[in-house]
Amino acid sequence: MKAIRTACSEMPVNDGIADKARRHLVQPWPTVAAIGNEVRTVLTRSDGIYVFDENERRLIDGPAGMWCVQIGHRRAEMARAVAEQIMTLDYYSPWYTTAAPAAELAARIAAYAPGDLQHVFFTTDGSTAVDSALRFVQFYNNVLGRPDKKLIISRQNAYHGSTYLTAACCGKPRDKGFMDEASHLVRRISSPYPYRRPAGMSVEAFCDFLVEELERTILELGPNRVACFVAEPILASGGVIVPPEGYHRRMEEVCRKYDVLTISDEIVTGFGRLGHVFASEPVFGLAPDIITFAKGVTSGYVPLGGMIVSARLVNEMKATDHGAVMFAHGFTYSSHPVSCAAGLANLDIIEREGLLRHVREIAPYFQARLRELAELPIVGEVRGMGLMACVECVSDRASREPLALDQEVGRRIDRHCQELGLMVRPMGHLCVMSPPLIIERSQIDDMVAILKEGIERTQDDLRREGLWNG
Ligand SMILES: Cc1ncc(COP(=O)(O)O)c(C=O)c1O
Repeated sequence: MKAIRTACSEMPVNDGIADKARRHLVQPWPTVAAIGNEVRTVLTRSDGIYVFDENERRLIDGPAGMWCVQIGHRRAEMARAVAEQIMTLDYYSPWYTTAAPAAELAARIAAYAPGDLQHVFFTTDGSTAVDSALRFVQFYNNVLGRPDKKLIISRQNAYHGSTYLTAACCGKPRDKGFMDEASHLVRRISSPYPYRRPAGMSVEAFCDFLVEELERTILELGPNRVACFVAEPILASGGVIVPPEGYHRRMEEVCRKYDVLTISDEIVTGFGRLGHVFASEPVFGLAPDIITFAKGVTSGYVPLGGMIVSARLVNEMKATDHGAVMFAHGFTYSSHPVSCAAGLANLDIIEREGLLRHVREIAPYFQARLRELAELPIVGEVRGMGLMACVECVSDRASREPLALDQEVGRRIDRHCQELGLMVRPMGHLCVMSPPLIIERSQIDDMVAILKEGIERTQDDLRREGLWNG
């Protein structure tokens, strides 16, 4: 450890990465105590479905970064596409110019989108994609002369981003405590969480309840005040919550009845995770007014997000006499040529390697193998669809009582799994698995074996420490 004396401090400073991160790098979702005091696992490189830590330990990338590294790590074709774009045209202002990568990517994305969704607006990430969709809906209603139609309906357990407006649409109770948000614009309704439905209620009756709750909420707030319903087809960070059969179609029908727009947040489900570029229509039978995307659009290699807007909405605005008013919204990096070039190369790989078909073929094996973990006494449920799944740990399988968060069971499982060669995405008592789409059967076997061992070691620890007696 090399100690140096800085101008403003007499404290020794280690020039190692971990030490610099601990002192200066604020990472997402830190606790107050962690700021200036925390090191997360230091990764040094990546390859295929693997990442490597500073001790050269090879780890299966269980969460594909954060649901995004669809094509796997370290693809030379992506590096070439990005480098070539930088050497051709690195940046231009989207305010007054355009260029091939954004136009071509918009056209390819529109061709995959359902219905009449054909206007693509690029942002920098998922939060700005959803924020743009929500602001577009507000703008649309202003142009149509309905300035009171502004309220957004979202759901408990949802995650839509970290901007001021999208944060208000999120419904994870743990994130709410000390953060302000635009809550006056949002009403949250129940999560379509079959595992946590009211005791004694069938899944069908639960679905009826959810649909009725949406209609009741719209009527209570007033259909003239409700602008949109924003929903992830599968609630991802909320715990890979797969709604009951028919839920989405019925929710959409209620929205149509009251002229409430639907935003399908496909930031996680898009670009192959469920075996389709967009899952809304082929998997859930939906015809949303807007789809948002990010993450998998570039496999996370460079930042990019966006929304696809229905031609109907645009035409309705054009039919008013407000053709000259401006959607005063955009980012310096909207339509970024390097990000869009990465998006094109990513789609090339997905198409050429048949990754959508691969996901549809391998997903049943992935889901079946993971469901074997349901036999472990601490596991309440294993659920998922496509290449996304969640293992939910409980203190008691009969009552489904969750484990107290401060037992940080997910983090303990993650720690054990990292020692064994697997990155987990721990969220309280939930472990999420959403590997790169290129994963093969033998690698799924490795992943499940490590996860099982990690959960078993955690069970032993909790028993030994008297924190759980399952
Ligand atoms: C469904 C969904 N929407 C929006 C976001 C926000 O995306 P980003 O973190 O890129 O801003 C996320 C991030 O995980 C997400 O899962």
